[in-house]
Amino acid sequence: MLPGVYREQTLPLQASERPLKCVSVRFFAGKMVKMELIRMSLLRLRGFEIHKGYLEPSQQRQLIDALRPILKAAPLFSPEVPGGGKMSVRMTSAGQFGWFSDASGYRYAPEHPRGSAWPEIPGEILTLWRDLTGLERRPDCCLLNYYGEGAKMGLHQDKDEADFSYPVVSISLGDDGLFRIGGAQRGGKTESIWLNSGDVVVMGGEARLTYHGVDRIRYKSSRLLPKGGRINLTLRVVT
Ligand code: SIN
Ligand code: FE2
Repeated sequence: MLPGVYREQTLPLQASERPLKCVSVRFFAGKMVKMELIRMSLLRLRGFEIHKGYLEPSQQRQLIDALRPILKAAPLFSPEVPGGGKMSVRMTSAGQFGWFSDASGYRYAPEHPRGSAWPEIPGEILTLWRDLTGLERRPDCCLLNYYGEGAKMGLHQDKDEADFSYPVVSISLGDDGLFRIGGAQRGGKTESIWLNSGDVVVMGGEARLTYHGVDRIRYKSSRLLPKGGRINLTLRVVT
């Protein structure tokens, strides 16, 4: 368990902030304030490092602000899947490459489907990558997945990158998502954990090619995104 961080906040708390906090009500200079203990903790599940509560609500809001210009320059699209049909998750990317899928397969593409280069990865996201991985090498893709009501992502491996010695860093923002973790092969037992806004998962080492997916989200469980939904950012070294 990493040390907790105390901070003060006037009422009311956001719904998304409830699960990880110990809250007590105190009076300061006649004003009622809540003292919150934000519990940051590091869990390990099948080799995945799950940093619960890594980002404070103010940092989460900053990230959302940093993502707005990306969504404007490179709007979300619904990728086709090779077998036919479209993914329920909408996506876009920042960085030198963006993840892309159509009838002919999954790959990284140097341009958004509408023909423009992907926007740059915001500095605060690169800082998170460095803090979490300690690597000088920067990710060359920040994939932004948006889960609206009913969206999900089937079990898969992240295996379109050239070098699996680099970890994947995954940042959850907005509504809760039920994250399922399997093994190195398809099939077999799986374990699930709810990822809340501000949680960060590092998939590296032995777990780099572990199957994972998102079964469902709790739509509107968070107020971070005005229209609800969940954003997941995955940072990857592609080449
Ligand atoms: C992914 O595996 O690409 C997304 C994971 C998540 O949404 O948490
Ligand atoms: Fe993935």
